[in-house]
Amino acid sequence: MLAPTSRFARLQRVLTSGKRTYHDLTTLPNGKPAISYGPPGYSAVAGRTVTVFGCTGFLGRYLVSKLGKMGTQVVVPYRDEDDARLLKPMGDLGQIVRMEWDLRDDKTIAECLRHSDTVFNLVGRDFETKNFDYKSVHVSGAERIAKIAAESGVSRFIHLSHLNASENSPSKFYAAKAEGEQLVKAAFPTATIVRPATMFGYEDKLLTNIAVWPIWWKLNHGQTRIRPVHVMEVAQALANLISLPQVPRTVNLPGPSTLTYEYLLDLVSSVTLQPPSKAPVLPKGVASALTRIGQAVWWPTLSPDEVIRRFIDDSDVPGDWDLVGVQPPEIEAHAIAYLRRYRSADNFARPVAFPPRPAPIAEY
Ligand SMILES: NC(=O)c1ccc[n+]([C@@H]2O[C@H](COP(=O)([O-])OP(=O)(O)OC[C@H]3O[C@@H](n4cnc5c(N)ncnc54)[C@H](OP(=O)(O)O)[C@@H]3O)[C@@H](O)[C@H]2O)c1
Repeated sequence: MLAPTSRFARLQRVLTSGKRTYHDLTTLPNGKPAISYGPPGYSAVAGRTVTVFGCTGFLGRYLVSKLGKMGTQVVVPYRDEDDARLLKPMGDLGQIVRMEWDLRDDKTIAECLRHSDTVFNLVGRDFETKNFDYKSVHVSGAERIAKIAAESGVSRFIHLSHLNASENSPSKFYAAKAEGEQLVKAAFPTATIVRPATMFGYEDKLLTNIAVWPIWWKLNHGQTRIRPVHVMEVAQALANLISLPQVPRTVNLPGPSTLTYEYLLDLVSSVTLQPPSKAPVLPKGVASALTRIGQAVWWPTLSPDEVIRRFIDDSDVPGDWDLVGVQPPEIEAHAIAYLRRYRSADNFARPVAFPPRPAPIAEY
C-alpha cells in the first residue's frame, strides 16, 4: 500500500510532466528493462545500475550525488576505503555499493561493472606518480575499462577526456587524453567522450590554487586563455546523459566565457580582498627547472607538464550544452562561495566586487 505522500508525489508528476508513473518501463539499449518505481527522487528506484570509476575525485563525488538523488543504484569503486565512505549517504539504503578495485586488475574491473547498464570512466590524474604515468592511467587504463565494459554487455560507456586533448599537444597529459579517446572508441564504438574545460568548485585546482599559489598562475604573463566551467553543471550534464538516447560522439563542455589567468588573478584578489600578488613572472625555463626539482619530494607538487599546460590556450570549440540540457553559469556567480574562506575575519562579510572584464576577452 502506497503512503499518501508518495501517491501525492506521483499525482504531481503526472500533472506536471504528463509522463507515466505507476508503471514506468524503459528498455535499455542492451534489451534489459529498467523498471522504475517509488516516488521521484532519493528514495525512488530508477531501475538503472551505474558504475562510476573515479568516483572519489572532484567531479566523481558530485556525479554520484546527482545519480543517487535520481534513485540510480551506483557502484563506487575505490582504492582507499576512507575516500569512498562519504559517498555512502548520497543514495538510499543499498543504492550506493562500494567495491575495492585496481586499475591494473581486469578481474576487479569486471566485478565492478558486472551488473551495470552504464559505466562512467572519470579516472584521471594531473601528474605522474611512481606507479602510474600518464599513459597507464589515460591510455591503457581507459582502454582496459572500455574493453571489459564491451565484453560484459554494458550498454553505455561515458569517458571523461579534456577540452584540450590533442595528439599533437606539447603536453604529455593532453596527448595521452587524445590517445585514450581513440582506444576507448575502438574498444567501445558507441562510447560518449566528454571533454570539459578546467572546472572550478569547492575542492578545485583553479580558484583555490590561485588564492594560495598566485606565482604559478602568472606564467606567460597571465595571458593564457581558459574557459573555466562549474563542476556542478558538468556533473549534471553527465547525469542527464544517461537518460538521453545513445550519444556516440564527443561532447564538449567549456565554460561560457574565455578568460585570461591575469583576469582570474584579479578576480581572486578582489573577491578575497587580499592585495594583488607581488610575485615575479617566472620564465618558462626557470619554472620547468623548479618543478623538476620539486618532483624529488613525495607529496604532489606542480609537475613540469602542468607548466607546459599553463602556456596552452583552451580550445576554441563550441559547447554542446543544449544537447545535455544544462546552462553553465559564469565564474563570478560562484566565486565568493569558494573563495570566502581566504578572506580575513575583518573582511569576511563585506560585499563582493569584481574587477572589470578586459574588453577583448568579453568579445572573444
Ligand atoms: N578537474 C578538472 O578541471 C578537469 C578538467 C577536464 C577534464 N578533467 C578530467 O575529468 C576526470 C575527473 O576529474 P577530477 O578533477 O574529478 O579528477 P581527480 O579529482 O583527480 O580524481 C580522479 C579520480 O581518478 C582516480 N584515479 C586516479 N588515478 C588512478 C589510478 N591509477 N587507479 C585508480 N584510480 C585512479 C582517483 O582515485 P583515488 O581517489 O583513489 O586517487 C579519483 O577517483 C579526469 O579524467 C580528468 O582528467 C578534469
